[in-house]
Amino acid sequence: MIITLDGPAGSGKSTTARALAKKLGGVYLDTGAMYRSVTLIALESKINLADAVKVDAIARSIAIDFKESENGQKVFINGRDVTAAIRAPEVDASVSTVSAHPGVREKMVAQQRSIAQKHKTVIVEGRDTGSVVFPNADHKFFLNANPSERGKRRALQTGQAVDKVQDIAKQIVERDSKDSSRLVSPLVVPSGAVEIDNSQLSLDETLQKILQFLA
Ligand code: DC
Repeated sequence: MIITLDGPAGSGKSTTARALAKKLGGVYLDTGAMYRSVTLIALESKINLADAVKVDAIARSIAIDFKESENGQKVFINGRDVTAAIRAPEVDASVSTVSAHPGVREKMVAQQRSIAQKHKTVIVEGRDTGSVVFPNADHKFFLNANPSERGKRRALQTGQAVDKVQDIAKQIVERDSKDSSRLVSPLVVPSGAVEIDNSQLSLDETLQKILQFLA
């Protein structure tokens, strides 16, 4: 069974997808972490991020792995633990540019499909998972929340001060706009997806709503 959860930054996808995977005994696939991994190596390589040929070559050359640990899921690139590094502000600021390259997307999508094939129940989270990667998923959800709520959640997640919420909300809206306006696989509500605005909902309430549709 494949369940997709798409939505903009800070919409609660990751927390919800992780909780859902735990509840259903399935595997959690964080596709954003894969685009973040390519971005991290591109930044470290000091290449021009607009250079599709060079960025595509990085996407093809790295091996991205996920491993479960006591502290949650860890992300590895060629065996190196990059779980924290891929969440750095520099990666946040550049990931939309890197993920807009068609060659990068092609490589990541192939890998996402191959990972999903190996498991019985997969909860996939991202921007195009219900529209492009798994258009025939068993269940599709699109999560959203208002920008100031999403800013608050990001501030909490990243340990930033509450007085930064406005700035964070602004950055999030800019990233949404880039992710939604790109030519290849933009952020859209996938056809057949159930839309959930969780601005006023707790994680548990969001999860209960999703579970109603799976029953
Ligand atoms: O979910 P996240 O914030 O970790 O995602 C980081 C970026 O990766 C996001 O701004 C756009 C890109 N992304 C994408 O293009 N397609 C996906 N399926 C997931 C993420």
